[in-house]
Amino acid sequence: MGNERFLSPGELKDDYVIKSLRPTSLEEYIGQRNVKGRLQIAIEAAKVRNEPLDHILLAGPPGLGKTTLSHIIANEMGTNIYVTSGPVIEKQGDLAAILTGLEQGDVLFIDEIHRLGRAIEEILYSAMEDFQLDIMIGKGPSARSIRLDINPFTLVGATTRSGLIGAPLRNRFGMVLEMEFYQLEELEEIIERSSRLLDVRIEKGATKLLAMRSRGTPRIANRLLRRVRDFATVDGSNMITEEMVTKAMEVMGIDAEGLDDMDRKILRVLMENYGGGPAGLKAIAASVGTEPETISEVYEPYLLQAGFLVRTQRGRAVTEKAYRHLGLKPNRPGSLFGDI
Ligand SMILES: Nc1ncnc2c1ncn2[C@@H]1O[C@H](COP(=O)(O)OP(=O)(O)O)[C@@H](O)[C@H]1O
Ligand SMILES: [Mg+2]
Repeated sequence: MGNERFLSPGELKDDYVIKSLRPTSLEEYIGQRNVKGRLQIAIEAAKVRNEPLDHILLAGPPGLGKTTLSHIIANEMGTNIYVTSGPVIEKQGDLAAILTGLEQGDVLFIDEIHRLGRAIEEILYSAMEDFQLDIMIGKGPSARSIRLDINPFTLVGATTRSGLIGAPLRNRFGMVLEMEFYQLEELEEIIERSSRLLDVRIEKGATKLLAMRSRGTPRIANRLLRRVRDFATVDGSNMITEEMVTKAMEVMGIDAEGLDDMDRKILRVLMENYGGGPAGLKAIAASVGTEPETISEVYEPYLLQAGFLVRTQRGRAVTEKAYRHLGLKPNRPGSLFGDI
């Protein structure tokens, strides 16, 4: 497995163990204070009124806990959850079958909701608003539309790109919750909790080092922890030390800021081929050999948040911090930061 794949905050096949690390209640869910606070009140109010919870859109980079939250919402409401995703729903009939099967108050979780087909999205509108389903039966001149009532339910949508959700869909969500990257202390807490669940001990310093290399992302923190745990197992001590973390990170090509080969390649290409930028997403993607969407959804959010990259009107540009991190100097007179 290459480093890029390992660090990518998207789900991997071996994430089944990580799934077992998922918190199951809001109380257990670490960080995201803002999101949690708003959810807590909404859930309590819905329970008092004995109504289904408002529809909720969860937006943010992969690995921050959107899927986890959707299960927690159903748990806290004491309802069933039905899980599907945008690209999987191909026909109107698929969605109709799901919607008519929901019980009062159930949660329907649609992951990657920005990838729903247009015709299918339109079916959702009246389902979300009036709990009614308008479907066409038959084709050609004999086609007719029928209307079905469905049980009031809660749609929880997740997206890595809230910008791709059009107004008609967005406006039908009662709450749009933007997830944030996690603070170091929160990641440390998550790593400590996961170590307990994985039955391995970890030095305080090792926890800190791991947190710093997790790109603000719990999924990555858990994945790094599992990898380092292998060292502690082989060692026979079952105790993760700072040294083990350092060694494991070196093997995986992850640096002190948690950047991997692909991150550094993106920054380096901007510096060496585009004078530090700005350069367009497509040009950068072609130069590093990946898809523009992979950069904008997986790599860029953290590089922006950590201050290695900025987005300008004319494209992406590296920052002074990026030059310092890679030990390079801007070589273009009049570049964004002048001479350093
Ligand atoms: N707030 C949190 N507290 C503890 N662990 C978390 C939290 N958020 C996410 N995780 C862990 O990170 C993993 C990835 O979360 P997930 O919900 O799959 O992210 P997303 O759906 O946003 O890509 C989960 O398996 C869970 O173990
Ligand atoms: Mg998910």
